[in-house]
Amino acid sequence: MSGSKLFTSFSIKGRILKNRIGVAPMTRVSSPAESIPRKDVLDFLVRRAQKEVSVIFTEAIVTDYESAQGYPKQSRMLTQRQIDAWRPVVEAIQDAGSMAIMQMFHCGRMAIPELNPAGRIIAPSPIAPQQNNPITGKPYPVPDEMSVFDIDHVINGFVETAKGAVAAGFDGIEIHGAHGYLINQFLSAYSNKRTDEFGGPLENRFRFAQQIIESVASVLPGDRFLSFRISNWGVADAQISLFESKEEWHQVVAMLDDSPVDIISVSTLNYKDKAFGTERNMAQLTREATNKPLMICGRIYDRATADEAIRDADIVLSGKSLLLNPDWVADIRDNKPLSPKTNEESNVAYTETPLP
Ligand SMILES: Cc1cc2nc3c(=O)[nH]c(=O)nc-3n(C[C@H](O)[C@H](O)[C@H](O)COP(=O)(O)O)c2cc1C
Repeated sequence: MSGSKLFTSFSIKGRILKNRIGVAPMTRVSSPAESIPRKDVLDFLVRRAQKEVSVIFTEAIVTDYESAQGYPKQSRMLTQRQIDAWRPVVEAIQDAGSMAIMQMFHCGRMAIPELNPAGRIIAPSPIAPQQNNPITGKPYPVPDEMSVFDIDHVINGFVETAKGAVAAGFDGIEIHGAHGYLINQFLSAYSNKRTDEFGGPLENRFRFAQQIIESVASVLPGDRFLSFRISNWGVADAQISLFESKEEWHQVVAMLDDSPVDIISVSTLNYKDKAFGTERNMAQLTREATNKPLMICGRIYDRATADEAIRDADIVLSGKSLLLNPDWVADIRDNKPLSPKTNEESNVAYTETPLP
């Protein structure tokens, strides 16, 4: 029983997806040396492609060696060895009939200085998150306010990482503008108090994202596509609404709509949640400001939730369900009763226990 939009095809930049289901980006903190993930972590992505998931995201790949890393053992795409490690993974995903997308990020003020060879923590403004860092158990240090030199240097890290992904054969690149990391820190007036051309009104707060998007787009061959992930919540101070109103959300989506981004990926804690005091959810509000392909993620765990979520989007992404259940696509096709997976269950992602 599959008669659902979920199991119809979709085309992006000449590529045909066999269904509308993707595995969300998931960091696995599994790169002990040289910023290359463990083999079982790479094989996991290939296995999901072989089990009918048509869009496969990498974990968040760190964009430089100076200040971008926020978690232990993250990976990079900046050296030939890193590119060579990913190339066969990308080919195996494509051989299974799926698309491979590299997500890249700079964590900004969420950095752990000891993990970054230059030991720096940089952000739009010298303001730390209010909560403690759950990894260190200590307050986040106050970041340095980024100079224009820092801004250019960070943009260059995104560009170099995108070039690495192109060389590794990825179909698409995603700029991580969500979850309270650096780009999101610029977008949100909560963390951006700058008074130069990168702060103040949303047009200025969007400038950093815009420059990254344009610089990355300029190095992508015409057949690769660019995705931008955005959210109204961050992993630190998760209770804070990062955008002030429905109008501000519409404005930022309209700016993405005007940019060379090919896909907008909206991350929520629960796709059903009504947003900004309206009767509509985030996918519905986003759709009001763009006709670009839209991905939605957040507590989509069974056929009913996936069917409901896809009504307002083009592709649904699952994190925890696809992390823990290799047969998730078949299970939702068969309408099998399924429960949402918890964060505790998904913490196995950060261990050396191989996943099914
Ligand atoms: C283990 C784990 C690692 C994650 N790492 C990332 C990441 O690297 N980049 C990102 O954008 N989101 C990351 N997320 C968030 C997921 O992409 C997704 O948005 C979230 O799990 C909600 O979807 P779900 O309810 O289907 O799990 C991670 C989630 C989990 C569980």
